[in-house]
Amino acid sequence: KILILDFGSQVTQLIARRVREQQVYCELHPFDVSDEFIRDFGASGIILSGGPNSVYEAADWRAPQAVFEIGVPVLGICYGMQTMAAQLGGKVEGSATREFGYATLEAAADSALFRGLADSHTADGQPQLEVWMSHGDKVVELPAGFRVTGSNASTPIAAMADEARQFYAVQFHPEVTHTLKGREMIANFVHDICGCGRDWTMPGYIDEAVARIREQVGSDEVILGLSGGVDSSVAAALIHRAIGDQLTCVFVDNGLLRLNEAEQVMQTFARNLGVRVIHVDATAQFMGHLQGVSDPEAKRKIIGREFVEVFQVEAQKLPAARWLAQGTIYPDVIESAGGKTKKAHTIKSHHNVGGLPETLKLKLLEPLRELFKDEVRELGVALGLAHEMVYRHPFPGPGLGVRILGEVKKEFADLLRRADAIFIDELRAADWYDKTSQAFAVFLPVKSVGVMGDGRTYEYVVALRAVETQDFMTARWAELPHSLLGKVSNRIINEVRGINRVVYDISGKPPATIEWE
Ligand code: XMP
Repeated sequence: KILILDFGSQVTQLIARRVREQQVYCELHPFDVSDEFIRDFGASGIILSGGPNSVYEAADWRAPQAVFEIGVPVLGICYGMQTMAAQLGGKVEGSATREFGYATLEAAADSALFRGLADSHTADGQPQLEVWMSHGDKVVELPAGFRVTGSNASTPIAAMADEARQFYAVQFHPEVTHTLKGREMIANFVHDICGCGRDWTMPGYIDEAVARIREQVGSDEVILGLSGGVDSSVAAALIHRAIGDQLTCVFVDNGLLRLNEAEQVMQTFARNLGVRVIHVDATAQFMGHLQGVSDPEAKRKIIGREFVEVFQVEAQKLPAARWLAQGTIYPDVIESAGGKTKKAHTIKSHHNVGGLPETLKLKLLEPLRELFKDEVRELGVALGLAHEMVYRHPFPGPGLGVRILGEVKKEFADLLRRADAIFIDELRAADWYDKTSQAFAVFLPVKSVGVMGDGRTYEYVVALRAVETQDFMTARWAELPHSLLGKVSNRIINEVRGINRVVYDISGKPPATIEWE
């Protein structure tokens, strides 16, 4: 397995995904783990990620020295290269110009990291690679034992290697798709240099996970909060595969779900898969508590709190349950792991079916803890869940509660559900659904004047939002065809009485967020 040390880059998780794509298991940990942790981990190779700091400004942002002492291959990326250089006796300097974007490098064909790779060649036959750079500082003096393996005019030391010790470093980002042969570089590193086999596969994972769940819970009963989202759905399917009727799911309808969503969840789980599901319609309770509340954070807190309330009442009806299952996935684990790289600011208090209180006195069962989202999806399909459900866009825990601006009313939710369903329908029909990462309608509680037939209308506005993103940390608004937007707008205004105006949101994240609240 590969150990990745995170120095806080926005794209560190991509490194892990690239490694897993090679069917090699890896884990991501904060860079400031102990020497002992490094020695005990049993890595076949270590990757040092990029990060936002300068090595000469952040003297304590260093890899544990053991990384360079335990005799396994190391790959430093961007900041990882700089700290490697600094820690092994080279020199790093700031430069006046930041280099950001595509760059062409001349690469050493005999370096194991670049073996067999070229996007083009120079006149004298030297291989060239198209890479993605994003850095201010650079290595200006090699540490002893290293040679230059990649360079161009602006970054003379853009890659370096000490083949004897199997230390490799690149100033660019092989984990992003803009580096054309990045995937192959990661493959060279994990397979050829570290000697890892291809043993991280989905069928293998299912067998292992099923055995592990059976062993963990024995004959105990398990309870799971099913939201209809991908993570809890796949967790339910996996646990059901392992222990059948020892699993009971609680599905809480908070009145803020999408059109027909409750029906679909019951169909998939209760009827098709034969999972025991308790369906609680708590619409009235949620709406009651949301009445008169318009502050976004207050709304989020109420929805989170009421969910816990309802869930607890149901859990008490299952006194035999000893385990609480959750669809926690690896990015959640990484995010809450902390270390110096932990983000300090909460923009929105997130709520999902995780986060249930300890007062339930149940042990936690989190069978997806090691998986990335795309692996969870692959697992869901392998377990027989419909492709359409597993590849659905993410839906926030507070549901339509954060898509109805201001006070939530059932009437607003009903209008929004129908507008949203039309939007999604048309996106699918036009083959745009899978090209966007998230798309939905937002209800604006403002009225505007319109004309329909001979009459004046004075009705509500719906905004359409569609974004493209890799990680939901940053996002671009999707350039949907005008004809598609026109069709959606027409249908919503004609079919949803109460809405007479549709607008399209053209804000990126940052500075806007994806959801409106
Ligand atoms: P923002 O609006 O912060 O959203 O750009 C980023 C992503 O997170 C989703 N989101 C949530 N997911 N519980 C969730 O499970 C929440 O409370 C929550 N709030 C936002 C949002 O849909 C987007 O995919």
